[in-house]
Amino acid sequence: MTINTKVEEAGFAPASRISTIGVSEILKIGARAQAMKRDGKPVIILGAGEPDFDTPDHVKQAACDAIRSGKTKYTALDGTPELKQAIRDKFARENGVSYELDEITVATGAKQILFNAMMATLNRGDEVIIPTPYWTSYSDIVEIAEGKPVLIACDAQAGFRLKAEQLEAAITPKTRWVMLNSPSNPSGAAYSAGDYRPLLDVLLKHPHVWLLVDDMYEHIVYDDFQFVTPAALEPVLKSRTLTVNGVSKAYAMTGWRIGYAGGPRDLIKAMAVVQSQATSCPSSISQAASVAALNGPQEFLKERTESFQRRRDLVVSALNAIEGLDCRTPEGAFYTFSGCAGMLGKMTPGGKRIETDTDFCAYLLDDAHAAVVPGSAFGLSPFFRISYATSEAELREALTRIAKACAALR
Ligand SMILES: Cc1ncc(COP(=O)(O)O)c(C=O)c1O
Repeated sequence: MTINTKVEEAGFAPASRISTIGVSEILKIGARAQAMKRDGKPVIILGAGEPDFDTPDHVKQAACDAIRSGKTKYTALDGTPELKQAIRDKFARENGVSYELDEITVATGAKQILFNAMMATLNRGDEVIIPTPYWTSYSDIVEIAEGKPVLIACDAQAGFRLKAEQLEAAITPKTRWVMLNSPSNPSGAAYSAGDYRPLLDVLLKHPHVWLLVDDMYEHIVYDDFQFVTPAALEPVLKSRTLTVNGVSKAYAMTGWRIGYAGGPRDLIKAMAVVQSQATSCPSSISQAASVAALNGPQEFLKERTESFQRRRDLVVSALNAIEGLDCRTPEGAFYTFSGCAGMLGKMTPGGKRIETDTDFCAYLLDDAHAAVVPGSAFGLSPFFRISYATSEAELREALTRIAKACAALR
């Protein structure tokens, strides 16, 4: 009794390490959109961070087989030998990078890979350079690990890519990591070998800086774009590069929660320490399914990418036909990141002034019943992200409504 009273009096206080981290803007918009849907409003959600395809049947079958054959126990801490071998083969086959098995780690999603890496390496105040727009989890994970995100704005004119001068200027003695993501969530921008080269040259000059590359959208690239990963381009940097990837986006396996990485042995070992006290190991069944995904047929990836490319073209041309919007054609992923500077300062039919990209997105949700995410959620304004991982029919309908809502602004 006394204890309860004391707890109530004291109230709840979160740890300071999460005090700067709020619920993501993306989740907030998603929740509002879902609530509007429940109220009968015809909301189209263009916010999903996952493919609208299903997990392939042979992958599902491998999971069922794993269950039936009793692969239902804890596995090796950071991945089964079978999955590590499949990942090793994948890196060699698709990326031209060779990793030993003890240079590979598997976790519960690429998100946990990032978390393990930051928790295992950052001391309080260590700096992590993150180009914006960025996937929001990057800075939040760095902050939870008590590091300091150093955000560098990369605008549309620069193709949303970090320039060598910007990287050079941002590096300090406290810099621990640079995080690069190609193709990018949210911009869809990707780094070619030529785009990477000047950045890698800068990193060669600063041996205390490590490189984390997030290749999650590797398979979703368009117009014959040649995907490359830095560890293949610059072998000297391989000994301080963590190459992150996963099965979520390529194989439509977001719910299976398997991500992986290749990197230097000592880093991989330190990451396993974090994982050992967080989850013990990734799901045994999902790991068996991921072996089938990586070792099985890959032809369907091309068909799926072609379908995404048709949708990208549809969205980019519809957005650019709207006065006041400016959408760069992305090289990959399934997002557009469109400028909306031309909408700022305008009045809605309801008499509200659009001051920010958040206001613009709120207006689109209220008036066009189209849920999109403001650039501010990704650290760069004024922009908004559309995920086109939804049917062409829904995309057409949403874009028609967006065009109408934009035309109604004065
Ligand atoms: C750029 C990027 N990296 C990593 C992830 C995490 O993927 P998962 O944890 O599902 O493997 C995502 C998910 O949205 C992403 O967009």
